[in-house]
Amino acid sequence: MAVSLGLEDVFIKYTGLTYIDGNAGILRYRGYDVNDLVKNCSFEEVAYLMTYGELPNKEQLSKFEDELKSSYKLPDHVLSLISELPEESDTLTMMETAFASLSSGDYKWDKDNDKKQVAKILGEDLGIISNIYRHKTGKKLQNPDPKYGYAEAFLRNCLGDNVNEKKIGAMNSALIIYVDHEVPASTTAALVASSTLSDMYSCITAAIAALKGPLHGGAAEAAYKQLLQIKTTDNVEPWFNKNILEDKKRLMGFGHRVYRTYDPRMKIFKGIAKDMITDNEQKKLLDIAEKLEDLGVKTFGSKGIYPNTDYYSGIVFNEIGFPITMFTTLFGFSRVLGWLAHITEYVEDEERLIRPRAIYTGPEERAFIKIDKR
Ligand code: ACO
Repeated sequence: MAVSLGLEDVFIKYTGLTYIDGNAGILRYRGYDVNDLVKNCSFEEVAYLMTYGELPNKEQLSKFEDELKSSYKLPDHVLSLISELPEESDTLTMMETAFASLSSGDYKWDKDNDKKQVAKILGEDLGIISNIYRHKTGKKLQNPDPKYGYAEAFLRNCLGDNVNEKKIGAMNSALIIYVDHEVPASTTAALVASSTLSDMYSCITAAIAALKGPLHGGAAEAAYKQLLQIKTTDNVEPWFNKNILEDKKRLMGFGHRVYRTYDPRMKIFKGIAKDMITDNEQKKLLDIAEKLEDLGVKTFGSKGIYPNTDYYSGIVFNEIGFPITMFTTLFGFSRVLGWLAHITEYVEDEERLIRPRAIYTGPEERAFIKIDKR
């Protein structure tokens, strides 16, 4: 018997959702290359694709958009819960709290209702994340305007009128890029919860807990902070030599359990960053990032360690208008769709309680000793 630490190379489900070729750097959702989806689709179209298996026609899309919009509005108790949390709370903690509070605890899974429930939760997701941002920035909480599509409604509820076509396009792309990535730690956590037939909101809460860590969703923050710490392009090499080579710290935003080459999502984020940056400070960070990328690839490329999706995403999120404290939560905002698609697929097609075993390595049987004799 052997333990696979980190469940490395263990397959836990069949899926028709996401295909990754880690050696060739390919990512497809339901057979479509992520690059094509980013170039041509709205987030709503991709959400429909993940939920129903096919891209929608115009009529199907319009009906689905209406379903999403009808649940942008959050129940009052969710808004007041968010507003009562300390402003300095971690944004993912706020997200966990809000999603947990929507759970009725007695959801009955069934194929006809599940997809409606997915659309409802995606609408609520928009209301939750935009209001977390509003609370963090001291604004009065408010429901998103259902006049707008997903990316635009989100940005307008966060940033007011400080929104333009470039920002909406970048947000839409970021939403699509982060939708799904097969079964990383957060999706696996959601699957474990769903295998007990727990309700969808509770599964999402489990996933958020796993997303939080710096080895998973937290890497975008860490990668961006790394660039801030380096400060100038001249300091890239001395910083790299001291921190990465001498002190053996990990280069954040580099490495991946599945990719052994460039993460295709990273290339899209890099393109968006280069296209949209106007601010000089951000331009400086981009230059630092590119120089550090070259050095990282030269040093680690032969070991299959390349930049991942989180390497440039922080620069894009910051250029749109979001602070570091929102980065991982923006990842989670989009990934809610992937979590929902996976748990729905699992429960509907192949539900079986996930209950692995552990190999015992503790002491042999021992005689019990009462407390006054120990
Ligand atoms: N910097 C330097 N060395 C690295 C890095 C890195 N970023 N990543 C892996 N390595 C090295 C390890 O030191 C190890 O070297 P060794 O064999 O000489 O001991 C080897 O590569 C294998 O590393 P593992 O940790 O065993 O590989 P694993 O598959 O578990 O790593 C992980 C994946 C956790 C993502 C890792 O690459 C990492 O810590 N990266 C930095 C954090 C990060 O960017 N996370 C985001 C991932 S993408 C996402 O979640 C959206």
